Amino acid sequence: MYKILEKKTLNANTKQMVIDAPHVAKKAQPGQFIILRVDEDGERIPLTIASYDREKGTIMIIFQEVGATTKKLGLLNEGDCLHDFVGPLGRASELEGLKKVAVVGGGLGCAIAYPQAKALHEMGAEVDLIAGFRNKDIIILEDEMRAACTNLHLVTDDGSNGRKALVTQVLKELIDAGNQYDAVIAIGPMIMMKFVAETTRPYGIKTIVSMNSTMVDGTGMCGGCRLSVGGEIKFACVDGPDFDGHLVDFDESMRRSAMYKKQEAHAVEAHEC
Ligand code: FES
Repeated sequence: MYKILEKKTLNANTKQMVIDAPHVAKKAQPGQFIILRVDEDGERIPLTIASYDREKGTIMIIFQEVGATTKKLGLLNEGDCLHDFVGPLGRASELEGLKKVAVVGGGLGCAIAYPQAKALHEMGAEVDLIAGFRNKDIIILEDEMRAACTNLHLVTDDGSNGRKALVTQVLKELIDAGNQYDAVIAIGPMIMMKFVAETTRPYGIKTIVSMNSTMVDGTGMCGGCRLSVGGEIKFACVDGPDFDGHLVDFDESMRRSAMYKKQEAHAVEAHEC
């Protein structure tokens, strides 16, 4: 059993938890994820590792209460335990050698963009972190992100905090201003990652995206997280979650994600009854 040591509310439907999981913390690296089950009969859900503390043996996760399982998870409190907490899974992000990077986070994706930016910043890289949210009420980790980069560019769709702009607009302006990035790392909704990749394509800047495909077993066996990359079949859980954004077939991945919406709505209804 994996004990919840800390629980914090980041905004109306986003929570942060620190879990006691020493053998996951021992091996965890930026970009990897865990799969958890709240209880024995529960659904397995993947969550990216937001941070880890090897000495304390803890893993931090951040999640939005949008599905039946994340709603159930959000009801747990400090001292409660999770039934399973498996990881670290997936390949670690390849950050070595990057000297100047733009990290782009969208909404909850900032919870994953933040550890990437932090790791790069600690490795001495110059990091422009572009963080986009729909409005001021859903901004998370602002202070943490500011401390983890060289420049934080905070934007909202409605201008209620920071500049009113899309992350792709800011990225294009920074590139056009002469910033020569070794790589752009984009993490957020698939549609945002698709447009980040389209923004960098004409400039030929290496663009890494973190694919949040639907996952079941997390071991490459079930095929749930299948996606096409450069015309080849890949599995986000074992080949990713990071991929070359210029090669990912985002339209196919978005169609696959939409396939499960009806089942998820039924599961949420059942949870709320
Ligand atoms: Fe099953 Fe990736 S989650 S193959």
